[in-house]
Amino acid sequence: MDYKLLDGKAVAAQMKKEMADEVAQIKAAGGKTPHLAAILVGHDGGSETYVASKVRTCEEIGFKSSLIRYEDDVTEEELLRKVDELNNDADVDGFIVQLPLPRHISEQKVIEAIDYRKDVDGFHPINVGRMSIGLPCFVSATPAGILELLKRYEIETRGKHCVVLGRSNIVGKPMATLMMQKSYPGDCTVTVCHSRSTNLKEMCQKADIIIAALGVPEFVTADMVKEGAVIVDVGTTRVPNANTKSGFKLTGDVKFDEVAPKCAFITPVPGGVGPMTIISLMRNTLLAGKKEIYK
Ligand code: GUN
Repeated sequence: MDYKLLDGKAVAAQMKKEMADEVAQIKAAGGKTPHLAAILVGHDGGSETYVASKVRTCEEIGFKSSLIRYEDDVTEEELLRKVDELNNDADVDGFIVQLPLPRHISEQKVIEAIDYRKDVDGFHPINVGRMSIGLPCFVSATPAGILELLKRYEIETRGKHCVVLGRSNIVGKPMATLMMQKSYPGDCTVTVCHSRSTNLKEMCQKADIIIAALGVPEFVTADMVKEGAVIVDVGTTRVPNANTKSGFKLTGDVKFDEVAPKCAFITPVPGGVGPMTIISLMRNTLLAGKKEIYK
C-alpha cells in the first residue's frame, strides 16, 4: 500500500502562520498581546527542550512569553505561591507548569492550584471534566494536536474502530474521550489498551485507527496492523545513539519502516505529533488571550 505521511511539521508551520497573521491583526487594532508563562523546575533534558521550543514558538507567532525557572530543590509552597501570583497577574493570559516535577512536589496539587481559566495545558479537573461532557474548555495539547492533524488530512473517523494504546491522564485518556465524542474528528468506537491488557495485539489487528501512546520504543510491529490503517505515533523516547550529535535518537512507539507500507496514513517521529503538540498549546494561548473560552 502506498502510504501518506501525516506531516505534523508542515501542518504546524501552516497553523503558525495563520496565528501570526491573527496576532498581527490584534496588535494593529490595539488589542492585547497574548501572553504565555511557563514554569520550569530543574534541568530534565526533555523538559528543557520542550520549554525552549514553546518559548521560541511564542516569539515566532508574536506572543509575549515569560519563563520562570526554579532549581529542583524548590519547595511545593514556593511553587504554589508562584502559581497564585500568575493566577492573579492580569497580563498573563495562560500558563503551564512543565511536568514532571521533582518527587517531593505533588503534581496534582500544583495542577489544581492553577486557575482553570488560565490552564492552557488543559490539565485541571474542571477542563478535563468539561472536555469529557463536550463543553468548551482547554483541551490538552497532544490530543488537540492529533485531532487537528486528522481534520486537516480529512481522515474519516465516523464509525471507525480506534484503538488507543496507553491510559495516561495527558494523552491516552483524553484521546479516547475525544475520539468517541459525537463530533468530527470523533464518532469512533474506541478501545483503550494498556500494560495490563491481555488482548492488545488482537485489538490492534482490528483497528482502523491506532493511536500509540505507551512510551515503549517500536512497540507496534507490522503483524499488529491491519492493511490500510491510520497510525498516529505519540512516542518520543530518547534512545541512546552514538551516531547522533545529541547522543540519542527520538524514537516512536511504532516500528515505522515495517509498519508504514501497510498503512494508509502514518505520522513520522520526529515531525509528526510533536510539532502539533506545541502548536496546539499556542492555539490555546491565543484562545486564552482572546478570552474565547472563559471570560
Ligand atoms: N510534560 C510532558 N508533556 C507536557 C505537557 O504537555 N505540558 C506540560 N506542562 N508538561 C508536559
